[in-house]
Amino acid sequence: MTRKIHILLCTSILFVAACGEPHQNADQGSTSRQTAPDGKALYMTYCSSCHNPVKDATGPATIDAITRWGHDTTKLYAFIRNSTESIKTSGDNSYPAQLYNKWGKITMPSFPSLTDAQISAILAYGTQRQF
Ligand code: HEC
Repeated sequence: MTRKIHILLCTSILFVAACGEPHQNADQGSTSRQTAPDGKALYMTYCSSCHNPVKDATGPATIDAITRWGHDTTKLYAFIRNSTESIKTSGDNSYPAQLYNKWGKITMPSFPSLTDAQISAILAYGTQRQF
C-alpha cells in the first residue's frame, strides 16, 4: 500500500515537473519586461539633483520638455547624452543654445552611457503629471 502511494507520488512529481517546463519558458519571456529600465530610479539617481518633473530647479521642469523639443527625441537624447556637444553643433540661435543661456550657462552633466531605453524610461517618469 505504502509502495503504491510512493509510486503515485513520484509519478505526480514527474508530471508536475514536466508540465512546469513550458511555464518556465513563458516566464523567461516576461523577465525582459520586468527588467525594463526603472525610469523613476534612474531619474532619482542622475537627474533629480537638478530637475523636478513639475518645478523649475537648477534645470527646467522636465514635464513639458519633450514638447519644447518639438518631439524631436533624436536631438533631445543627444542633448541629454552630451549637452555641450549638442549646443555646439546646433548653432548659436538654436533651441539648445538659447536654453543654455537662459539657464545661467550651467552646463548639464553628460550621460553618454544612458541607452535609448533608459532615457525613454527617465523621460516617461519625468514627464508624467501624477506623482
Ligand atoms: C547638474 C545639474 C543637472 C543634472 C544632474 C541634470 N541636468 Fe538636465 N539640465 C540642467 C540645466 C542647467 C539645463 C538647462 C540647459 C543648460 O543649461 O544646458 C538642463 C536641461 C535639460 C533638459 C531640457 C529641458 C528643456 O526645457 O528643454 C532636459 C530634457 C534635461 N535637462 C534632462 C535631464 C536628464 C534626463 C537628466 C538625468 C539623466 C539631467 N537632465 C540631469 C541641469 C542638470
